[in-house]
Amino acid sequence: MPSWSFPWLASLALAASVASAASIPAQNVSSAAVAPDAFAKSKFDFIIVGGGTSGLVLARRLTENPKITVGILEAGEYRPGDDLIEVPTGGDAVANSTASTIGNPDYDWMFKSTPQAHLNGSVISYPRGKVVGGSTALNSMIWQRPSKAEYDNIGTVFGNPGWSFDNLSGYFEKIENWHAPTVLFPGQLVTNALTSEHGTGGPISVSYDTLLTDVDSPAIRAANAINVPTNSNPDGGNETYLTMTSRSVNPTTGRRSWASNGYFTPIIGRPNLKLVTGVLVTKIDFVKKQGKIVATGVQYTANGHTYTATAGKEVILAAGSLKTPQLLELSGVGNKSLLKSLGIPVVLDLPTIGENLQDHPVALSDFQVDSNLLTLDRLNNNATYAQEQLALYNANASGIFTYTPAVVGSLPLQTAVNQSVFNSMLATLEKAIASESTTPLQKVQYKALINMAQGGQLGWFELTIVPSGGLLSTPQPGSAYITSVVIQLHEFSRGSVHINTTDPTASPLINPNFLSLQWDVDVLAHGLQWVRKWTHTSPLGNLVEANVTPPDSVSSDAQWENYVRSTVQTTNHPIGTTAMTTQELGGVVNPRLKVYGLDNVRIVDAGVIPMTLGVAIQGTVYAIAEKAADLVKQDWNI
Ligand SMILES: Cc1cc2nc3c(=O)[nH]c(=O)nc-3n(C[C@H](O)[C@H](O)[C@H](O)COP(=O)(O)OP(=O)(O)OC[C@H]3O[C@@H](n4cnc5c(N)ncnc54)[C@H](O)[C@@H]3O)c2cc1C
Ligand SMILES: *[C@@H]1O[C@H](CO)[C@@H](O)[C@H](O)[C@H]1NC(C)=O
Ligand SMILES: *[C@@H]1O[C@H](CO)[C@@H](O)[C@H](O)[C@H]1NC(C)=O
Ligand SMILES: *[C@@H]1O[C@H](CO)[C@@H](O)[C@H](O)[C@H]1NC(C)=O
Ligand SMILES: *[C@@H]1O[C@H](CO)[C@@H](O)[C@H](O)[C@H]1NC(C)=O
Ligand SMILES: *[C@@H]1O[C@H](CO)[C@@H](O)[C@H](O)[C@H]1NC(C)=O
Ligand SMILES: *[C@@H]1O[C@H](CO)[C@@H](O)[C@H](O)[C@H]1NC(C)=O
Ligand SMILES: *[C@@H]1O[C@H](CO)[C@@H](O)[C@H](O)[C@H]1NC(C)=O
Ligand SMILES: *[C@@H]1O[C@H](CO)[C@@H](O)[C@H](O)[C@H]1NC(C)=O
Ligand SMILES: *[C@@H]1O[C@H](CO)[C@@H](O)[C@H](O)[C@H]1NC(C)=O
Ligand SMILES: *[C@@H]1O[C@H](CO)[C@@H](O)[C@H](O)[C@H]1NC(C)=O
Repeated sequence: MPSWSFPWLASLALAASVASAASIPAQNVSSAAVAPDAFAKSKFDFIIVGGGTSGLVLARRLTENPKITVGILEAGEYRPGDDLIEVPTGGDAVANSTASTIGNPDYDWMFKSTPQAHLNGSVISYPRGKVVGGSTALNSMIWQRPSKAEYDNIGTVFGNPGWSFDNLSGYFEKIENWHAPTVLFPGQLVTNALTSEHGTGGPISVSYDTLLTDVDSPAIRAANAINVPTNSNPDGGNETYLTMTSRSVNPTTGRRSWASNGYFTPIIGRPNLKLVTGVLVTKIDFVKKQGKIVATGVQYTANGHTYTATAGKEVILAAGSLKTPQLLELSGVGNKSLLKSLGIPVVLDLPTIGENLQDHPVALSDFQVDSNLLTLDRLNNNATYAQEQLALYNANASGIFTYTPAVVGSLPLQTAVNQSVFNSMLATLEKAIASESTTPLQKVQYKALINMAQGGQLGWFELTIVPSGGLLSTPQPGSAYITSVVIQLHEFSRGSVHINTTDPTASPLINPNFLSLQWDVDVLAHGLQWVRKWTHTSPLGNLVEANVTPPDSVSSDAQWENYVRSTVQTTNHPIGTTAMTTQELGGVVNPRLKVYGLDNVRIVDAGVIPMTLGVAIQGTVYAIAEKAADLVKQDWNI
């Protein structure tokens, strides 16, 4: 039997014992791809660093104009049709290997955090896609839009005209090839509003599960019983409460829809687009011209050689929120004292690069359920069932291999705490913030976050039910489980990502600084306690047989706090490290995504998002890149 290592399980990096990579046949390189030396000889209008989520969106949109030439540089390889990437559940089984994408150097940068001061010194895994398609190759495929107030904040709180919910929703529609749900949860409706809010002609297929496990609907009914309603339309500006989530899966093929097969493969033949894979971009080249700092191109390495590619118009950085700051710092753009300490000549002192790192910390708990129920554990427990499902998947792309966790939603903090607990958490928070030296950016963020929390309408912790064991504890043969995921959506802690060496092959120092404020611990601890209540509420409660992790003995606030501090991980949504906001607030890019102080460098990736959003972020990253392409076209009149 292959070992079933479900992508989202591994993505949480808790059951992180991924077997060493089985040999995967190298895929043929696309016709757009050129060798490193040939790429260096081309002269491009635009160079895009990183062929990931946002890089491929930009490449597609900018090359719509045949007069414009674009070159993309990507460290990973082009892997079209790879089962490990594209099969939603158990891709390793379909590929008949014991490999996984996460924790595998052929797909993943495999970063680690620095030792975390508030997690008893532990180190957290930070998977990041290293493949054409970037992190959309690795992600859990959950497809969401944030609530209106959260997008509107980007425009109003951070001084970015043109960045409201209404401004971005058109871009969501442009991305999507949406398919209405065919299977519904109790209380769920397919409304005209839901249908009209979605696009149907875009490159990314968005669909819903066509098959549910035996725990999904009972989980919804149990939540409904404790005043958490079903939300039939999470995408129109109010994503609070539980829903059957949409996901980036093509319902016809039953495969992942991601930046590579959605945005890139269909346009491979464009003569004005070139891609070079397997190269590491190490430096942006600058010249000073009439008092301006102008990027002329980039340097990159492959097989021990260094090459230079030139850009006539712009260099666009789309290397992701953890790698774009590194490249800027290696190029002399960043905190002057840091750069000087490493002997890097300072091109531009922009000390907020790499600061303001925010993410969604996550804590899990698992429960044993009646072993007769259909959960994903059956794939491990019953070989006949697994073979049957494999045959079904291969025959017509249906069955359990197309499943992704269906129960998803964000609850206001007030769902889990009463007013007096809320007030005391807030008092502790305000005292802690007042005693810290906070940046101007933190001051406006904290004010906005406190308003949002007090409003009690927006999601503060997000829940997902993974109908499977094996994420936290080792499953017993023949048993069935659910694992509940509690994601903190609006942390107050702030981290950073910086280089500590001039070696471009080294990982940057990633410090999410999780749980540095008591509030952040309390949100997760109360969320977990709410989950325990939920899982013991009928009808879900009738199916749950035991608390496994943590066991019954964890019950006091102090014990939950200890549990949170010893198990918290990342949901892999790092943002904010090159924030889009005003210069007064320490912005790195302006509302047109141009780096302050540089003439022709833009950043288009998750790093520009100035503050946390209450959802998973891939849809937003695609939308930012779609909007960015329009901004570039406007600025160059192309
Ligand atoms: C494990 C995991 C699970 C997730 N789950 C979800 C989910 O379920 N739903 C959701 O909405 N979001 C999810 N996300 C988040 C979402 O996928 C990412 O936020 C988004 O894809 C990031 O896009 P990006 O363009 O910023 O960076 P990326 O897509 O990571 O692209 C960056 C690209 O740049 C390349 N690169 C970097 N540095 C260099 C260099 N120096 N030289 C050459 N190339 C370079 C990288 O190899 C990569 O291909 C998840 C992310 C991960 C990692
Ligand atoms: C790769 O290309 C070769 C030669 O063009 C071809 O024979 C082969 O079938 C291709 N393989 C795949 C996986 O596309
Ligand atoms: C997987 O590979 C093994 C040996 O490599 C083989 O015996 C088995 O039949 C294969 N299974 C499937 C489902 O292809
Ligand atoms: C903290 O880490 C130390 C060393 O790894 C370990 O001995 C100790 O038990 C941990 N404490 C908690 C509360 O997890
Ligand atoms: C988007 O923002 C711009 C600039 O603020 C505004 O003029 C435009 O009307 C907005 N578009 C939509 C669809 O809201
Ligand atoms: C979102 O909808 C819920 C009901 O599903 C409602 O209670 C809440 O007030 C709404 N939030 C906003 C911001 O309108
Ligand atoms: C810049 O780096 C120095 C030295 O590492 C540090 O003391 C300072 O706080 C940094 N500035 C910012 C804005 O982060
Ligand atoms: C295993 O699965 C097969 C096919 O679904 C089913 O017929 C059989 O009863 C199952 N066996 C057990 C022990 O549940
Ligand atoms: C797939 O095949 C199975 C078995 O033949 C059938 O029951 C099912 O309806 C088919 N599903 C689709 C989506 O065609
Ligand atoms: C609020 O919740 C706390 C913790 O559960 C409890 O101790 C307290 O009695 C509750 N207060 C009110 C007014 O219900
Ligand atoms: C950079 O930090 C890493 C991790 O802390 C460490 O292993 C490495 O030695 C440091 N490199 C330098 C040049 O300081």
